[in-house]
Amino acid sequence: MNEEIVLETAAEFVKKRLGNEGSGHDWLHIDRVRRTARMLSVRTDANLFVVEMAALLHDLPDRKLRTDIKMTKTEIEDFLSGLSIKKEACSSIMHIIDTISFNGSGASRPDSLEGQIVQDADRLDAIGAVGIARAFIYSGSIGQPMYSIKEEEGSAIRHFHEKLLKLKDLMNTEAGKAEAAKRHLLLESYLKAFYSEIEGEGLQND
Ligand code: ADP
Ligand code: NI
Repeated sequence: MNEEIVLETAAEFVKKRLGNEGSGHDWLHIDRVRRTARMLSVRTDANLFVVEMAALLHDLPDRKLRTDIKMTKTEIEDFLSGLSIKKEACSSIMHIIDTISFNGSGASRPDSLEGQIVQDADRLDAIGAVGIARAFIYSGSIGQPMYSIKEEEGSAIRHFHEKLLKLKDLMNTEAGKAEAAKRHLLLESYLKAFYSEIEGEGLQND
């Protein structure tokens, strides 16, 4: 199979499998990560086939997925061998998925340029306008409130502070850093507006 056909086959497979996923790991997320990763690869030596395959498959083993959707490492490996991908590409793709998804919630830095690109693309999708929407969707999907006045309670807004605001300093690529800086500004102004509305600042008579 040529690479284009393999990519199409993998895309169809993931689309079917994640189509009804309700927590922010849906097909549209995968499609955005693939496209963003492709753009981050421009003017680099990255192997685009490896980048796109890893982007397509990166969320399949996510622990947040429903058990009927989630895949094990062996299942993904079997899927890849069924597509008769070269051994070397297969192990590069698996290594990326392994680092981003299996090993410690995406906190470790992939050692390949391709992995760093996919990780950046995935992180970019967690910030900016889309990232804000995803945080609220995810919160809703697990019954978490938008925000909470209880110190210990999880919420979408709390997730901004625990994770999203930190992502810009964790980016790997120059293009990723530049885009993350822009999206970070949006997170900050969004939070400012959010708190201001909650406090009713705009409505106060002075
Ligand atoms: P991915 O691997 O696609 O980057 P995650 O599995 O970390 O993403 O999370 C999926 C989406 O849900 C992301 O947009 C993330 O910000 C959001 N999310 C994850 N955990 C929480 C949480 N505790 N509260 C709110 N949003 C969350
Ligand atoms: Ni993802």
